[in-house]
Amino acid sequence: MIDWDSLVTAAKNTRENAYAKFSGFKVGAALLTTDGKIFTGCNVENSSYGLTNCAERTAVFKAVSEGYRNFKALVVFTDANPPASPCGACRQVLYEFNPELEIVCANAMGVIDKYKLSDLLPEGFRLE
Ligand code: THU
Repeated sequence: MIDWDSLVTAAKNTRENAYAKFSGFKVGAALLTTDGKIFTGCNVENSSYGLTNCAERTAVFKAVSEGYRNFKALVVFTDANPPASPCGACRQVLYEFNPELEIVCANAMGVIDKYKLSDLLPEGFRLE
């Protein structure tokens, strides 16, 4: 059983840390490992726009660098309506670790959209 409420709250709180001074679009992510640990991430923009890192990849890179690679769920929290879903780059990065990752896209209005990563990224690239 996944405690989606805790993940949504973690993503919502982390979104407050977003460094989004160029787009003004704040994103928070919360990534759940198979052993119950939560890694959060926000988007981090840069004056050199292309260097921006999305919230989802911030969370993944934090987790992997702490020794965690087994993920079962992700929440992405924005104020977009309908809720924003992970960009293509983040889908591919997530796919590396679990093509069957469960993803919830939530927003400040309480809308919840649920997906499986393999549906968002069919035939994603993976070296086995
Ligand atoms: N962004 C994310 O953090 N995650 C996504 O999946 C899509 C976009 C960020 C990048 C940029 O800082 C802002 O949202 C606008 O694109």
